[in-house]
Amino acid sequence: MKNALIIGASGGIGRAMGILLETRNVSVTQLSRSHDGLDITDEDSIAAHLGALTGPFDFIFVATGALVIDGQGPEKSLKQLSSQALQSQFAVNATGPAIMLKHMQLLLPRDCRAVVAILSARVGSITDNALGGWYSYRAAKAALNQIVHTAAIEIARTHKQAIVTALHPGTVATPFTSRFVKPENATPAHQAAENLLATINGLTLDQTGGFLDYAAKPIPW
Ligand SMILES: NC(=O)c1ccc[n+]([C@@H]2O[C@H](COP(=O)([O-])OP(=O)(O)OC[C@H]3O[C@@H](n4cnc5c(N)ncnc54)[C@H](OP(=O)(O)O)[C@@H]3O)[C@@H](O)[C@H]2O)c1
Repeated sequence: MKNALIIGASGGIGRAMGILLETRNVSVTQLSRSHDGLDITDEDSIAAHLGALTGPFDFIFVATGALVIDGQGPEKSLKQLSSQALQSQFAVNATGPAIMLKHMQLLLPRDCRAVVAILSARVGSITDNALGGWYSYRAAKAALNQIVHTAAIEIARTHKQAIVTALHPGTVATPFTSRFVKPENATPAHQAAENLLATINGLTLDQTGGFLDYAAKPIPW
């Protein structure tokens, strides 16, 4: 790995990945909403920010996402559903990464191994859903998984050595989880980045389009 792009570099996991890659002498380009004004719910913003980069990047890490949006947290019951919250969840967790995939193809090398890793969540698994609740976040991540799987099929036609994957990072101590999990019950962000990078470095071509956890274990759809 030589040249990495991190999208969502201001977040807990994105920041930790940036720090880790720099210690491994990888050149890192970082993009985020708070530092650069990238809004992944706006295609013009995505096109402008990704279009301004030259690449190629042999690693693109999408670490954006949200569980609480505009004060709306995960639902416990159907009566808490709102179409606005559903739309907001899809905009950040599914549509945003889909439009980023659309605009990042030109940034991927065709002549060497490249990995696009997009942070999803185990709760996006329909098979694994035994608890219910969290409708909009679960549904948006399930949609993201389908988008990643479909994009991997298409990208493999032009980028023979590209691996596109959805990864579950574990339960990680970041602003994302601070309202829901005590820090002592979550993996520190630096450890999560180490786990994810080990998995990313070990990915093989036959794993493109997959949905894996931080230890490279496949998660059922
Ligand atoms: N932490 C966990 O335990 C956990 C578990 C499962 C899955 N995940 C997934 O891992 C990913 C990262 O989580 P995290 O814990 O690192 O979260 P985090 O610390 O809250 O970081 C979220 C990142 O997403 C960015 N973001 C949110 N909305 C955006 C928008 N509209 N446009 C551009 N950027 C936007 C934030 O940008 P700004 O801060 O610059 O606004 C920030 O960089 C998410 O996809 C999450 O679903 C996390």
